[in-house]
Amino acid sequence: MDERAAIDVEDCTRCSALPDSRRQIVNGVGPVDADVVFVGEAPGEQEDREGEPFVGRSGTLLDDVLAEHELDRQTVRITNAVKCRPPENRDPTTTELRNCRDYLERELEAIDPVVIVTLGKVPTEHLLDRSVAVTAEAGTSEQVTIRGATYRVLIGIHPAATLYDPSTRDTFDAVIAEAAALLEG
Ligand code: URA
Repeated sequence: MDERAAIDVEDCTRCSALPDSRRQIVNGVGPVDADVVFVGEAPGEQEDREGEPFVGRSGTLLDDVLAEHELDRQTVRITNAVKCRPPENRDPTTTELRNCRDYLERELEAIDPVVIVTLGKVPTEHLLDRSVAVTAEAGTSEQVTIRGATYRVLIGIHPAATLYDPSTRDTFDAVIAEAAALLEG
């Protein structure tokens, strides 16, 4: 089994609602030796159709801002805290996050990134295990230990937030710039 197959979720029925709401499981994409992992919440409709995270409008925005900072989808890892689309795009529940945690942890363990960037409140609170005022705290980072390894988690806002509230676009840019700087350093 190659490393990619070992971290991909092939089949899962841990959640009661998600096996019926998903078309497919949406695994992370990007190299298994990437220096940065972006962690979103859960796949949306287009991601569920195409089987790839962040390919809808938020994904285009993410790709654009990555490119502005000389990062691109081919060299970073992009994944979600929950690998299946929740019904009607609702937020994943605490139970769903917990059920999927193991898959995210093994993905992070295999990749061992320099920095993890959370995209939005749900993955940020999930990884930091505390309530977070994402817009206020975006761009700050803290150390988190997962399966015995310590990672730097950089708090980011969700790209979709910048579509609803364009005033957050600068914050989103600043987070990606900070991630690029951490990779340089
Ligand atoms: N939003 C997410 O959190 N993840 C995706 O994959 C797409 C949109």
